[in-house]
Amino acid sequence: MTQLKSLSHSIQQKAILAKGMMPAPMGAFATEQIIEKIKTQLKEQNAVLVAHYYVDEKLQQLAEETGGLISDSLEMANFGRNHPATTLVVCGVRFMGETAKILSPNKRVLMPTLEAECSLDLGCPAAEFKQFIEQHPDRTSVVYANTSAEVKGLADWTVTSSNAVAIINHLHSQGEKILWAPDRHLGNWVQAMTGANMLNWEGHCVVHDEFRTNSLKELLTEHPDAVVIAHPESPEELLSMAQVIGSTKVLVNAINTMEAQKFIVATDEGIFYKMQQLQPDKEFIVAPTGGKSATCTACGHCPWMALNSLQNLSAVLEKGDREIRLDKSTIEKAKISISRMMDFSTQQGLIVQGDA
Ligand code: 13P
Ligand code: SF4
Repeated sequence: MTQLKSLSHSIQQKAILAKGMMPAPMGAFATEQIIEKIKTQLKEQNAVLVAHYYVDEKLQQLAEETGGLISDSLEMANFGRNHPATTLVVCGVRFMGETAKILSPNKRVLMPTLEAECSLDLGCPAAEFKQFIEQHPDRTSVVYANTSAEVKGLADWTVTSSNAVAIINHLHSQGEKILWAPDRHLGNWVQAMTGANMLNWEGHCVVHDEFRTNSLKELLTEHPDAVVIAHPESPEELLSMAQVIGSTKVLVNAINTMEAQKFIVATDEGIFYKMQQLQPDKEFIVAPTGGKSATCTACGHCPWMALNSLQNLSAVLEKGDREIRLDKSTIEKAKISISRMMDFSTQQGLIVQGDA
């Protein structure tokens, strides 16, 4: 665990570096041209876009217009493995591309950038995680999808935020004690929801960890009619103020089905594209972060998700570089914990294909 504390600084540095690499904005004409080019490239290469809610809205729009998907990480995994396209282009962060490859080893999996990391993945190196498991042989290991293929290969189960509570409830009902990694906030929330005996790793998301409760209280005095909705990677105190807590897809469904007209949203602001599209008359406010202080590295937007752009999407379709490559044994090992999650989620009706 001591090594992990020293990791935290280098993760912050990487997040800041990623912010500096954000693509330059393009003019309207160039944007139209590149969008048309990508549409042709996708057809020529029998490729489909699998996008996360946090990526640039132009990419989300393209995914929609070309028969791809915008969703949370569980639905992305499911869509990729079921889609007949021979090339999956994953617009998101690296672990999402790796999961797609593990579930569809015979497909080509491309990403606009292979530098799109995740602080949770970076904060849980396989060697340290292996030691953690070895120190607690009596526990069933459960890892969040936001981890490397190597870490998934060491774990008994993989989960996402949309099935974590159901899977831990299932394991708890079998009398199993849990070893959990890497997100401590999600782990604490799942523990509170299930009452399971859980030992948690100390990772955090650089975006969600920055949501601040005091500023949220102030914001609520300005907007007393607003409903707070939050991703469970957010700190516990903030979650205690939220009426809805769930995966990105759960949050999108919430704004679509609840009667409230105003929402304070504690997750990456990229999700506003889909929310505004579904409910153009409702108001969405990003939850306050430590943005005004010196410590804010993410400020409501994942620096790695932001590396995906129209430019690097078109470039990867042209050159075919930036392909996810994993060796056979890594795929075989990681597939065990991921397949358990997919089978369980299918049996429990937790996978509902398509966007909101
Ligand atoms: P979801 O599975 O809820 O989309 O979460 C992925 C993620 O990285 C949130 O920060
Ligand atoms: Fe990882 Fe946080 Fe970015 Fe999600 S928002 S990909 S958890 S760094």
